[in-house]
Amino acid sequence: MTKDDHLTFRQFMLNEYREHGTPKDLIFLLEDIATACRTISHKIRSGAFAGTLGATEDTNVQGETQKQLDVIANDQFMMHCANCSRVAALVSEELDNVVWLKDKAEAGDYIIYFDPLDGSSNLELNISVGSIFSIVELKEPLAELTDEAVLIPGSEQICAGYSLYGPSTSLVITTGHGVNGFTHLNGSGEFLLTFPNMTVPAETNEYAINASRQKYWEPAIARYIDECLAGVDGPRERKFNMRWVASMVAEVHRILTRGGVFLYPRDAENAAMGGRLRLLYEASPMAFIIEQAGGKASTGEVQIMDLMPTDLHQRCGVILGSSEEVDRIDAYHRD
Ligand code: F6P
Repeated sequence: MTKDDHLTFRQFMLNEYREHGTPKDLIFLLEDIATACRTISHKIRSGAFAGTLGATEDTNVQGETQKQLDVIANDQFMMHCANCSRVAALVSEELDNVVWLKDKAEAGDYIIYFDPLDGSSNLELNISVGSIFSIVELKEPLAELTDEAVLIPGSEQICAGYSLYGPSTSLVITTGHGVNGFTHLNGSGEFLLTFPNMTVPAETNEYAINASRQKYWEPAIARYIDECLAGVDGPRERKFNMRWVASMVAEVHRILTRGGVFLYPRDAENAAMGGRLRLLYEASPMAFIIEQAGGKASTGEVQIMDLMPTDLHQRCGVILGSSEEVDRIDAYHRD
């Protein structure tokens, strides 16, 4: 296969425009986000030489130490997203409050939520990290430009995506018409369509969970994992495999590639915070992507995209991936 066998990101998006009427402003915005991701990928790869590995002296709103690359990635997203005149506001994991780019937010304007560098504790280890983003289009003008005004449920997303900085740089997006994966062709500046119509198989024999948290698990999660571990002699009557990269983007990419289920549930230790992962720029966009690929995404009790956010940096339990497994875990919660 040569480069000419693959659609470029722009060719693909122009087809989306023709087939689904995807707004041109959204296409330009996604091209800018792709540029941000390409730049972040380059900065990560040269980190050890550029002196950008390691921490800053600051902590973010989550109380986590900011890495230099967290700040660099955040600056890239802020700069490139601001190019689009329809973007009214930006919400970043790295910033305490909403950044308003306009004096008024009209119907049709975009709010962008992003985690510029997810899994950054993996940076020094040379393990894959990624960026996650979500775009909501305002249905009505906003009366006031407050942080509360952008607390919009995931069901209102018009687009979500992530870039995975692994052995190659991937860009995976949905605009509500399936999920498509692109790979950056080094040296060309272009993302090419390499994984069209990504789907999550309904069945799987693979799960991902941080098993060191076992003593905090709620009964439904403990039961599910116990049954997987019991293998052929247990109630599931088959063997299960386990993976944990500690990098959500890499886990979701694996699930989109070969199936599986990812769990970062609410547990006895993180329950007071609502869970571990952040709703607006981690859980919701990944839920939209997984559901568009035929999988499911839930907290155990409700669908993630139906959660009404009450705080910009709200956390929630996350269970997503192959639909049969997510249904089973939801049923265990109901039990
Ligand atoms: O949100 C940050 C994150 O790094 C996710 O990408 C990942 O799934 C999770 O935290 C890892 O958590 P832990 O440190 O408990 O393994």
